[in-house]
Amino acid sequence: MIKISDLLLEHQLDDGKAVFDDVYNADDPRGYFEELGSLDYVIPHHGQQMFRSVLAAQAEQRSEEPSQVLDVCCSYGVNAALLKCDLTLSELENHYRDSDNTNVAVDELADADRAFYARHSLPDAPTVAGLDIAANAVDYAEQVGLLDQAFAENLEAAPPSLELTEHIENTDLVTVTGGIGYVTATTFERIFESAGEVKPWLAAFALRRYSYNDIADALAQHGFVTERLIGTTFPQRSFASDEEREFTLEHLESAGLDTAGREDDGWFHTEFYLSRPAAEAAETPLSELLGEPQTGIQLQELSSSPV
Ligand SMILES: C[S@@+](CC[C@H](N)C(=O)[O-])C[C@H]1O[C@@H](n2cnc3c(N)ncnc32)[C@H](O)[C@@H]1O
Repeated sequence: MIKISDLLLEHQLDDGKAVFDDVYNADDPRGYFEELGSLDYVIPHHGQQMFRSVLAAQAEQRSEEPSQVLDVCCSYGVNAALLKCDLTLSELENHYRDSDNTNVAVDELADADRAFYARHSLPDAPTVAGLDIAANAVDYAEQVGLLDQAFAENLEAAPPSLELTEHIENTDLVTVTGGIGYVTATTFERIFESAGEVKPWLAAFALRRYSYNDIADALAQHGFVTERLIGTTFPQRSFASDEEREFTLEHLESAGLDTAGREDDGWFHTEFYLSRPAAEAAETPLSELLGEPQTGIQLQELSSSPV
């Protein structure tokens, strides 16, 4: 029988996943879209639909327009683009993989991107700040107008800067796609310790192989209830190698999770979690909050359960 530790060593998997460090902190997003696009990285598409629904529901529940999103592990501002612009993930991918854009200098691309995103910006879009350890990525996103504020910080290692703390105080919604595992309960503990009087909600997609219990427990200390959307999972991307697939299947099966129709078909799958202050969660359960399924999302048997 193959040992997981041998697989990791032999194939340089980090925590059982392929390593994308070379594209996470480049001067522009072209390598990111090329590499993750070739693996059908699709989770920001699901994020666009869900985060829009959650923002709309929060606005209704609080009787005010939520204005500030903090996207954790924001990279080049993919979720920001999808919240602030009339663009789809496929359009973003085509944009960066288009031959007109693949051969130009970084400065030229940044100028073109600034105009591109301005042209596609939606009226009444939320403001979006981004937090990521990758300084070049967040700088690019800020430079082209996707991030209203960029924070190149690692909350796993240190508390937020004063600037970030002040920003968190006015944040309505914290979002995450593709980041759980890189960031743990420590990051969220530090974010929610800095929250202002009106608490932000946390909407996150997490790979099924990561337990969300530590994050839910950390937030419970701050009076939050975390619900998991049950009855559906969301594909994140296809496996990059047989080894990655094997590692994941073994891990999930040993945790007693059924992989049929999900990871068995060659894809990482995620669960969707929403954390809200207990009183707000009690007022409208997650299943009710999301209402009618949005285009592009298969929401079967929509119901929720506390984590
Ligand atoms: C798979 S990418 C997801 C990017 C984006 N959210 C998306 O879905 O397209 C993971 C991101 O996590 C970031 N990251 C890794 N460790 C981090 C940390 N400790 N704090 C913040 N970001 C981190 C990486 O730099 C990378 O941008």
